[in-house]
Amino acid sequence: QPAQVSVAIDLNSPGAKIEPAIQGQFAEDLGRGLYDGIWVGPDSKIPNTNGYRSDVMAALDKLHIPVIRWPGGCFADQYDWRDGIGPREKRPVRINYTWGGVTYDNSFGTNEFMDYAERLGADAYVAGNMGSMAPRDMQQWIEYMTAGGKSTLAEERRANGRDKPWTNLKYFGVGNETWGCGGNMTAEHAANEHRRYATFVQRQSEGGPIVRVGSGANVDDYHWTEVFMRDAARTMDALSLHYYTFPGSWEHKGPATGFDKAAWASTLVHALHMDELVTKHSAIMDKYDPDKRVALYVDEWGTWYDQEPGSHPGFLYQQNSLRDAEVAALTLNIFHRHTDRVKLAAIAQMVNVLQAMILTRDDKMLLTPTYHVFDMYVPFQGATPYPATVEGPRYKQGEYDLPMVDVSAAKGADGKLYLSLVNLDPDRAARVTTGLGGTATGRILTGPAIDTHNTFDAPNTIHPVAYAGKNVGGKLVFDLPAKSVAVVAVTQ
Ligand code: AHR
Repeated sequence: QPAQVSVAIDLNSPGAKIEPAIQGQFAEDLGRGLYDGIWVGPDSKIPNTNGYRSDVMAALDKLHIPVIRWPGGCFADQYDWRDGIGPREKRPVRINYTWGGVTYDNSFGTNEFMDYAERLGADAYVAGNMGSMAPRDMQQWIEYMTAGGKSTLAEERRANGRDKPWTNLKYFGVGNETWGCGGNMTAEHAANEHRRYATFVQRQSEGGPIVRVGSGANVDDYHWTEVFMRDAARTMDALSLHYYTFPGSWEHKGPATGFDKAAWASTLVHALHMDELVTKHSAIMDKYDPDKRVALYVDEWGTWYDQEPGSHPGFLYQQNSLRDAEVAALTLNIFHRHTDRVKLAAIAQMVNVLQAMILTRDDKMLLTPTYHVFDMYVPFQGATPYPATVEGPRYKQGEYDLPMVDVSAAKGADGKLYLSLVNLDPDRAARVTTGLGGTATGRILTGPAIDTHNTFDAPNTIHPVAYAGKNVGGKLVFDLPAKSVAVVAVTQ
């Protein structure tokens, strides 16, 4: 018997717009995220367009990616942007001390990144090096990317093949994780450093204002947010928050596939913790910034498991299953409920790293369940959310106690009402009754096992299929299978 669940959607209480940027991506110089994943170089046997993998680019195109954050992450604070410009054969080979101690040849640098983002129609979120370089380096990097006119750096960019400034540089990160890999600073020191560096971040470019993003808290470090808001709010337009979901502990995270139901439930409990984090960090921000001028950017989130056996240590390469699809949907739904403050988010990471959209091996590529959720969620970009109240049984698994069904509702930019319905229970179907009339069609993602995933030999094992609600006595009803994510458009 399916569980009976009811949903009330309050169409009279629209929230602030869901910024498209909450579906942002993070692409660090880490493992095979950039090299191999995005960039193979123009001489590669792998089909490419000016060095960019054609298959990956075509797949990413479909996601309407609003923003990409680059080059880190922790890597940002070891990166000298000057290494990555000019003729590729002359660029220095460096050691990636942050990730695996491997060398990289800098063939994917500023021009390659900015052009790539532009081709995908995405804004660029460039993370500056505050840990090991001077404010002047940030200033000059921004000048290289955004200056028109005749400055020497603008001319250098032209000599490197890019005439016009990139107008898609919308965001600039003033350091990353300055509490850890970005310099191991105290909150007070980091807030001061932020003020100093942000002074030299050019705020206007030909593309419009550049958002200065402060390096924010790790998980529940509320003191960090307090100090940044108290001491540095005036010099920032957004403050970041990083939170990763793992089923076990930091030392023993657990495998990406082949896990049991306890790990499934634990992962989803940890994913839902995002709501508390955003709520509490936002409350602190409200104290110092009641007008909500400073946004909260969850610019690193996603699942983090044990790396795949046999993969390079430090490359953070992991499989991605139906469980990740649930985490993605639940997390995006949480962001839909906090649109007053959360204006950007970036899942870690786009290709081949952590909770990726795409995995590649040589010339093969697969789309992960997380990719499919992002694809299904495109209509939520720019939509207006409505509160949805769900009543129904809980899903209990040992010590874990979760809501069985999660729902997000929003009116899309196209005027249609969209619903996302997530069944967290791996065993039990739900019959979800809404107060809405009309019909609803869309797509659903589910699979036979809790770790259903795609492989290079079977890349289409899990993919969305057509799905529809039923009109029962004038009310829209959804038969939602166990462990599933559905997105539908309602026609009333
Ligand atoms: O995404 C992997 C790493 O996680 C990032 O480099 C860092 O910012 C965070 O700790």
